[in-house]
Amino acid sequence: MKRILVTGAAGQIGSELVPTLRERYGREHVVASDIKHGSDALTHGGPFLLLDCRDADALADALQQHAVDTIFHLAAILSAAGERDPRRTYDVNLGGLFQVLEVARENGCAVFTPSSIAAFGPDTPRDPTPQDTVQRPTTMYGVTKVAGELLCDYYHRRFGVDTRGLRYPGLISHVTPPGGGTTDYAVDIFYHALRHGRYTCFLAPDTQLDLMYMPDAIRAAIELMEADAERLHHRNAFNVTAMQATPARLAQEIRRHLPHFAIEYAVDPARQAIADSWPRRVDDRAAREEWGWRPEYDLERMTAEMIEQLSLKVGKPVPA
Ligand code: NAD
Ligand code: SER
Repeated sequence: MKRILVTGAAGQIGSELVPTLRERYGREHVVASDIKHGSDALTHGGPFLLLDCRDADALADALQQHAVDTIFHLAAILSAAGERDPRRTYDVNLGGLFQVLEVARENGCAVFTPSSIAAFGPDTPRDPTPQDTVQRPTTMYGVTKVAGELLCDYYHRRFGVDTRGLRYPGLISHVTPPGGGTTDYAVDIFYHALRHGRYTCFLAPDTQLDLMYMPDAIRAAIELMEADAERLHHRNAFNVTAMQATPARLAQEIRRHLPHFAIEYAVDPARQAIADSWPRRVDDRAAREEWGWRPEYDLERMTAEMIEQLSLKVGKPVPA
């Protein structure tokens, strides 16, 4: 990995992945791209392109102009936003991935593509969810994630493209807000706790899902892409997790820092149905065994750091 193109770079993951990649491989060697401008750091901290991942010519130009050998393909529409516009979700998530794989094949690039816990569905064993199991998701987002995993495996087997991927759980971060997922509650809760001292959660109190703090998610992507190919049996895509939590458990942990924080619930049936179709806990032994995956942040450490970092951003907690 020497010269990198990141698609969807202005989103929740890209806005933290790009600076990390620039620090590791050199700022001029990491091209950030998106259909919108991101933060100043993203746009001016190195090369930046306005680029739609469905545009094959623009992708090919970017690869050739910057001599790219690795693509981190992050552009996508997430689960809740995806149910509001399934047609666009199919078009961006699968149409975009197909173009990325084609230009990768033509230009000899490796490709990292995130999959998701959304690649599973109500027929999947939920606790634990094995690495290899039933995948019959019920959202358009999930359908594109399963098809994307298969497409990436196909390009590896058929054309030798070095495709690799992770099934990320809900990601928690303080730099860029999430872009329309079902696990967004686990980020929103921190902003509301600090700004208002209370939060109305759209998922029920006992809805357990896998979660991960962004520094672990970024490190996982880089470690997977740097892993010895000989050791990878799964490639697309590895289950990974760092912690399991429910809204009630997360609220309890926040109260250790902000004792007056109050949570109430107004369940959104659409997002609740999505969450209820996802794993309660994935089995990530394949990632641990094949490329040494180890999370560094548990619920306690992530919560302490989120509150510390967001206090700097949104100000001190509201008084009780
Ligand atoms: P996000 O919604 O925050 O960012 C996605 C970015 O893609 C946005 O900046 C958007 O402008 C861009 N985009 C949309 N359509 C595009 C197009 N046609 N061409 C180019 N860019 C386009 O998403 P994220 O959280 O950063 O997710 C990145 C990847 O990780 C996605 O594949 C997502 O499915 C996956 N993932 C995310 C999570 C999570 O909790 N954030 C969990 C599992 C998997
Ligand atoms: N966090 C993502 C979502 O909720 C999971 O892929 O859509």
